[in-house]
Amino acid sequence: MSQVLEYSEKVMDHFSNPRNVGEIENASGVGTVGNAKCGDIMRIFLDIEDNVIKDAKFKTFGCGAAVATSSIATEMIIGKTVEEALKLTNKAVMEALGGLPPVKVHCSLLAEEAVHAALWDYAQKNGLMIEGLEPPVADIEERE
Ligand code: FES
Repeated sequence: MSQVLEYSEKVMDHFSNPRNVGEIENASGVGTVGNAKCGDIMRIFLDIEDNVIKDAKFKTFGCGAAVATSSIATEMIIGKTVEEALKLTNKAVMEALGGLPPVKVHCSLLAEEAVHAALWDYAQKNGLMIEGLEPPVADIEERE
């Protein structure tokens, strides 16, 4: 029997009214990650100028929690430096959302990894070495 999951008001808000949905043309960095287990895919676009994230947008083909985590993750990194954005953890994303049910924790990991993948793409395109930035994995199930 399936169980009804309890979501915080913040999760419901970001799911019903997601911020920063869309694409950025000629983005400085684009990161796409998926989770083979649930089949969800998240793509994050970054516009970076002078090492600062001027804009972030996302497209998520996934569950409601994945939509909410990508929405809040984009909000959390806009205006931040590349180094600050790199420090965004799935834990911080979950905290900002007022928590997630245990079976949905991996959705926040998708947001963290999508941001990292977009930063990696940015670094690759510009020949930059960013301390602490690791090559992204296509399927985040490996990181769970
Ligand atoms: Fe997989 Fe939410 S169920 S990202």
